[in-house]
Amino acid sequence: MKIIMLGAPGAGKGTQAKMLADRYKIPHISTGDIFRANIKNGTELGKKAKQYMDQGLLVPDELTCDLVMDRIQQEDCANGFILDGFPRTIPQAEALRAALAGIDQKMDYAIDVDVPDENIVNRMSGRRVCTDCGATYHIVTIPTKAEGICDRCGSAVVLRDDDKAETVRKRLEVYHEQTRPLIDYYKEQDIVRTVDGTKPMEEVFADIVAILGQ
Ligand code: AP5
Repeated sequence: MKIIMLGAPGAGKGTQAKMLADRYKIPHISTGDIFRANIKNGTELGKKAKQYMDQGLLVPDELTCDLVMDRIQQEDCANGFILDGFPRTIPQAEALRAALAGIDQKMDYAIDVDVPDENIVNRMSGRRVCTDCGATYHIVTIPTKAEGICDRCGSAVVLRDDDKAETVRKRLEVYHEQTRPLIDYYKEQDIVRTVDGTKPMEEVFADIVAILGQ
């Protein structure tokens, strides 16, 4: 099963993608996580990506597309994968479509996790992310057991650099301009399914599983 997670920044794509990856035993591929790992490791890609991410802008397609195309050709993707944060522009979607068409395949579902903008800034300011394993929390809705410490690995949990309110507003603007048009793009292929992302995360998950099947 090949799935794209669509939705605004902070809609819960990553939260759902991790749970879906566990359930369906397919890899979760997050371009945001790949860029953040590169930033942490001080790679050239990380240095370039950081300049854009810190401003709430998209990393250019030429730095993003090849990375994903290489990843989805790896062996663990043979039975499918979940793309989280990719594609984010029409040219990225076209690159994905062309790469899959070359091996006679196509995406099965684009799950649109729908959350209104007014909920997003609150969610992002409360989000905390583990500096080591990447687990995601929220100070109100999904708190860590011990304040500031990851339940899973015991490392520090922090506010992401791009989760400051003004950067979040920029990311939302970029989302509406460049990424939201993908909903119509995938509607034309009849693979969009929209879920209400304002529900509690277990209910959102159940709604997605009902769409994808057991
Ligand atoms: P990326 O990491 O992809 O960020 P994003 O799309 O902005 O999405 P987020 O990770 O912020 O949110 P999410 O929807 O995954 O929500 P989450 O589950 O964490 O990208 C970061 C940057 O990298 C981009 O801005 C760009 O610069 C660059 N980039 C990445 N991919 C790119 C690409 N393809 N092309 C170009 N540039 C790219 O949830 C958010 C919070 O809400 C959490 O605290 C969570 O606990 C909580 N929450 C989740 N679900 C619920 C719920 N149902 N109810 C209440 N709270 C909930």
